[in-house]
Amino acid sequence: MQYHIKNIGLAKKGKLRIEWASNNMPVLNLIKERFKKEKPLKGIRIAACLHVTTESANLLSTLKAGGAETIICASNPLSTQDEVAASMVKDDKIPVFAIKGEDEKTYYKHINAALDTRPNITMDDGADLVSTIHQKRKGLAKDIFAGTEETTTGVIRLRSLEKKGLLLFPIIAVNDADTKHMFDNRYGTGQSTIDGITRATNKLLAGANLIVCGYGWCGRGLAMRARGAGAIVHVVEVAVLPIREASKIGDIFVTLTGDINVIRKEHFLLMKNGAVVANSGHFNVELDIKALEAISKSKKQIRDFTEEYTLRSGKKIYLLGQGRLINLAAAEGHPASVMDMSFANQALCAEYVARNYKRLECKVYKVPNNIDEGIAALKLRSMGIKIDTLTPEQKKYLASWEMGT
Ligand code: ADE
Repeated sequence: MQYHIKNIGLAKKGKLRIEWASNNMPVLNLIKERFKKEKPLKGIRIAACLHVTTESANLLSTLKAGGAETIICASNPLSTQDEVAASMVKDDKIPVFAIKGEDEKTYYKHINAALDTRPNITMDDGADLVSTIHQKRKGLAKDIFAGTEETTTGVIRLRSLEKKGLLLFPIIAVNDADTKHMFDNRYGTGQSTIDGITRATNKLLAGANLIVCGYGWCGRGLAMRARGAGAIVHVVEVAVLPIREASKIGDIFVTLTGDINVIRKEHFLLMKNGAVVANSGHFNVELDIKALEAISKSKKQIRDFTEEYTLRSGKKIYLLGQGRLINLAAAEGHPASVMDMSFANQALCAEYVARNYKRLECKVYKVPNNIDEGIAALKLRSMGIKIDTLTPEQKKYLASWEMGT
């Protein structure tokens, strides 16, 4: 088996951490037990490009239990947990191509290693597998039944391919399932972003002016949690507060917009001495780091994941995690209990593709409702929560138009 990881000797610690995450992934575990018996993915080659974390390790072992031949590469150069990669190779016999801190050339070498297996299903987080196939390796498309996409940014890229009529195989937008974005994007990003900033800086959030750029599900989650930690939260979004104004008052800036160059040279120049800037969006394009470099006379690594830039004026600005998603660069990403639902969607969508791919067209599809609702029901049951269901009379009433006053 081929693999490229930092150090196989880290496997023991990784195995324990994967077990800890598994304890908080009851829905995925139920799916794994069924997959072991039914083998719905028997002989299907799955290439996954995901953050190599304890949660992804549990997903990959679920897919393998279902009979799939799996391989994983990193979906971000800085998010890999090296001890997890080691345990996946040593204990689960899953080929892993991922090293924390890998350069861009290695990152794409790893993506190509995953694609060399000629996958039947691609499983992306950010669409780098699919975009590499469409730009450089179109010949692989004939073996691909469909792909799944984990994140908002990836879905946006794929919808753009679809709109231009260029999409070569079907995609299931896992991100858009209610049991994914309403929990993972909101509560997962909210908590893990604060975790990443705190681990990188150990700054007090209480009383800090925290600027949240972008008010989608992720921004809302971060704003909610930052407020709970006592920060004075300001939201930069169309029709709320311009970044130019926010630049003057912020102590900590976080971008989660999915867009490019949100914080630029003119904004860095307006910031207070000691301002901290971080990104929690998928790609490292939201902060214009080149501009920050250009206006700085020096920089130094002052803590793990914290670089101190000294501007020509003498002012200092602190950049976290090289502008890569701080929740996975400096912390561990979303907690297992939310990834449980996200990755239950991935596993069940892979099964759905295996059973239905002949009927799918080159489109971006929603996760089928029965999968989304089934996961919600299992999650509630695993938490011991009972809910009411509609009576036949109530169902009929909601579907009718005749009855009025
Ligand atoms: N994306 C965000 N958090 C994650 C995690 N813990 N594992 C995999 N992908 C993630």
